[in-house]
Amino acid sequence: MKIYSILPYKKMKLIQLFLFLLILGGCKSKSSDNALVNVNTKISSPGSINTIEFFLDKTGTPYYIVKHRDKVVIDSSSMGFDFKGQNSMKSGFVIKKATEKDFNETWEMPWGEQRSVVNKYKELLVELEETASPNRQLNIYFRAYDDGIGFRYEFPKQSGVDTVVIMDENTQFQLTGDHLCWWNPGDWDSSEHLYYTDSLSQIDALELKKNDLANSHIVDNSVLTPLTMRTAEGVHLAFHEANLTDYAGMTLKVGKDYLLTSGLVGSDRLGHKVKRALPFVTPWRTIQIADKATGLLESRLIENLNERNKIGDVSWFKPKKYDGIWWEMHINKSTWDYASGKHGATTANAKKYIDFAAKNGLKGVLVEGWNTGWEHWIGFDDREGVFDFVTPYPDYDLKEVVRYGKEKGVELIMHHETSAAPRTYDKQMDTAYKLMKSLGIHSVKTGYVGPVIPKGEYHDGQWMVNHYQRVIDKGAEMQVAIDVHEPIKPTGLRRTYPNLVSAEGARGQEFNAWASDGGNPPEHLPILAFTRMLAGPMDFTPGIFDITLPTKEKNQINTTLGQQLALYVVIYSPVQMAADLPENYENKPAFQFIRDVGVDWEQTVVLNGEVGDFVTVAREERETGNWFVGGITDENARAITVDFSFLTEGKKYQAVIYKDGANAHYKNNPTKIEIVKMTIDKNTKQTIKLAEGGGFAISLKLVK
Ligand code: NOJ
Ligand code: CA
Repeated sequence: MKIYSILPYKKMKLIQLFLFLLILGGCKSKSSDNALVNVNTKISSPGSINTIEFFLDKTGTPYYIVKHRDKVVIDSSSMGFDFKGQNSMKSGFVIKKATEKDFNETWEMPWGEQRSVVNKYKELLVELEETASPNRQLNIYFRAYDDGIGFRYEFPKQSGVDTVVIMDENTQFQLTGDHLCWWNPGDWDSSEHLYYTDSLSQIDALELKKNDLANSHIVDNSVLTPLTMRTAEGVHLAFHEANLTDYAGMTLKVGKDYLLTSGLVGSDRLGHKVKRALPFVTPWRTIQIADKATGLLESRLIENLNERNKIGDVSWFKPKKYDGIWWEMHINKSTWDYASGKHGATTANAKKYIDFAAKNGLKGVLVEGWNTGWEHWIGFDDREGVFDFVTPYPDYDLKEVVRYGKEKGVELIMHHETSAAPRTYDKQMDTAYKLMKSLGIHSVKTGYVGPVIPKGEYHDGQWMVNHYQRVIDKGAEMQVAIDVHEPIKPTGLRRTYPNLVSAEGARGQEFNAWASDGGNPPEHLPILAFTRMLAGPMDFTPGIFDITLPTKEKNQINTTLGQQLALYVVIYSPVQMAADLPENYENKPAFQFIRDVGVDWEQTVVLNGEVGDFVTVAREERETGNWFVGGITDENARAITVDFSFLTEGKKYQAVIYKDGANAHYKNNPTKIEIVKMTIDKNTKQTIKLAEGGGFAISLKLVK
């Protein structure tokens, strides 16, 4: 440093250039000598918990390794691409440059599981170039966080390559053992599968395909992300992606010797996986790493790997609880279509739900089946041009319903079932969103049921990713919040576009009403909490009180009533439905919890949990300082001790505990519930018994 300072500026630059060429030349000759190139390409997270090492092997193939507390969790894993009309990119690289960067910011969630989020990482940018002509370039960004790691590829602007047609991305994830995995099949067209628990080597998505209810398009022995696993030492790993934009969704192909490889969802129609003009970046490949299962839930890695809010103020969207004309169709009490003579979405029925919402402090009402076209929905191939999203059935007066809602302080949630005909939706979108704007409607639930038209496109492919993005953009323009069903999986885009408020993207409550496999088993939610929920908010639609579904012979909800309440805290979404029919809540003391529970949080503490077994979550409501706790278990009864030390020092809280009653059981005694009131403070500990398939919910009102 000293020498530099006394040198004239130009000389200094020359010396720097000389040193740089020396390194560069050194790398090049070393790699052509078949030696290992080793410039400084290792970074550790700010707290030195996770380390990423990058290197090229003697053939110039890029590799990375991930260590957690000095133990290898991802062993040497190669990276590369196959293209159409170009040689694969996989070896023959040299490192042109490696740059490190420290980053630290705190950002605010406009709505969320917590108000402020710390985004602190160490970044390594490796710039690679092929030694052979045309010397193509590829950059890789690595970020090491204390709660995991992420990396993404960048195809920089370069001469000779304008566009790439990617046939496959071959990112490897070399696991170090036969870890226990919670997985569902890597279906290109549906994420509504059950989860399975197997060691890595036992995963067989293709075998499963034969009798899997939701099987839509499973092409490899692959899994969907988030994929969660636990090592023999108890380290938890969850694989996913962040900032999926103009690219195909990623599944993970399960190979031999504990090797996972990225498998991009393709377009059979276009014959490729991804087409992009340069320059561009891929989504982040992410691994959340935690010593305890609960750490996965507290990680904000996925949101942190997305860009800052691009749409500005979204205070026009208020997190809310809602009811609606929905469950009654799923249990066959009424229908979406008009021709059946049992049409659900009538003006009178909508007003009934509005009245119920207004009386109970729910701020939204969803009305499905309001627009023409439902006679031509499931089972039809020619779904193009069927729905127009502006024409109500004759027995539904849209304007009057909106007016009546406003009078009662309840906002209508619009419903657009696209029947997976996105081209029709694209065409109608502007008109449909203008209608919402003119009526003062600020949220829509969209749906994409069925195989995508045109044939050969899949829900998780690049073509659909871009469609879902157009909907987010239109919503942002028209001040409409989007809750997507049959979505592309969430990848943290809510940070950039906070009008993307919730999504389905897993088996929701609806399966309990009609699934021929008997509905979601009791372990479903304790698995979901540690898998799908790592991706972002889920519109699961909890709160079914009439658990045995008397009108449905073969179906019932496989939880206790206590667990239905707990889900309002365990499952995070800024829109939470009170999903049952209003009449099923009448005179039910337990409904008080749904009235009281918050939907927007100052902070979240995950108190305990193990994947697939149980989990307890505590959340502090924004503005009020009230806390809510929810705990759920799988098919096993258990006792959970809640330590209230998360509460504010010196404060007292009026607690109402809703817990499984004596002899409650999800199968034959699901609605037995006991409600206890007590005063609680920071020093309190309470042991609560959960029944098989059970749960508990606690509201803690701050005594002012
Ligand atoms: C599937 C959605 O998940 C469900 O909630 C909705 O009722 C139907 N599609 C109809 O759009
Ligand atoms: Ca669905």
